[in-house]
Amino acid sequence: MRVVEAGLDLFREIERLKEKINAVVLAHYYQEPDVQDVADFIGDSLALARKAQETDAEVIVFCGVHFMAETAKILNPEKKVVLPDLEAGCSLSDSCPVDAFREFIERHPGHAVVSYINTSAAVKALSDVICTSSNAEKVIGSISEDVPIIFGPDRHLGRYVAEKTGREMVLWPGTCMVHIQFSERRIRKLKVRYPEAEILAHPECEERVLRLADHVGSTSSLLSRVEESPAREFIVATEPGIIHQMQKLAPEKRFLRAPGEGPACEACSECPHMRRNTLEKLLQCMENLSPEIEIEEELRLRALRPIERMLEL
Ligand code: 13P
Ligand code: SF4
Repeated sequence: MRVVEAGLDLFREIERLKEKINAVVLAHYYQEPDVQDVADFIGDSLALARKAQETDAEVIVFCGVHFMAETAKILNPEKKVVLPDLEAGCSLSDSCPVDAFREFIERHPGHAVVSYINTSAAVKALSDVICTSSNAEKVIGSISEDVPIIFGPDRHLGRYVAEKTGREMVLWPGTCMVHIQFSERRIRKLKVRYPEAEILAHPECEERVLRLADHVGSTSSLLSRVEESPAREFIVATEPGIIHQMQKLAPEKRFLRAPGEGPACEACSECPHMRRNTLEKLLQCMENLSPEIEIEEELRLRALRPIERMLEL
């Protein structure tokens, strides 16, 4: 593998490679700022899935985590999909092993199975429909009132959506290692110091944090709120990579990271999986067209059906 020489203009090299291999670089808002800046498109999980569905580039370079790149591959079997670091996983997806989830479904016969996009292809294949944090309410609303629902794997998002839609749901007990770090106590203290600040939270946060929030939503919804809100200061309870886009959208506003419980918990809200991708790894993966996402066709077809059902909604 090529060693990236010190002083190399990584931005220029990546631009050159995009043309050479006919690639589109997609990045999630939780990527480090440099990776966001070199991407052709930045978005939340839903927007990235849609973009992956639409692109006519031959190569999709996915700067996000494994389940996102895998979703892109499920939608584009004929394209090459590469991820700068194959180890970029997701604690939510890991919290839902396929065999245990199958047993869970079997224990609740007659339920519709709604799975968050933060799952493996094997779990998607067991599901009736997929959702993301930006369309979960709509997806739940599309299921007939008389059909009981299993929701997995994020129990905080599940509880939040159950409350919003008034639907009872059986929840898989998964959590996101990043979003459960935020401390209600320390956010309250920060709010005393910045009483005018609006609190923004992703629905993967615990209920007690969501109760404090002025606005709860997916990453793209939090960004829209920053633009629309008259507030000048915001306490942001989600992965802080998103603050890069918030600052670009509203340079005159101030963004404070919501704190975790520990005294040195500045970095504990950074997703260790998302942050595995760096500009250097991105360059290497474009040069080598590896690591590549591969998926067995029979599994792909079964996972495709519930994703398509979501995208049709
Ligand atoms: P969004 O779909 O809101 O971008 O969330 C993705 C994610 O992984 C949240 O932790
Ligand atoms: Fe998964 Fe949480 Fe990281 Fe999102 S922030 S990718 S849910 S571990």
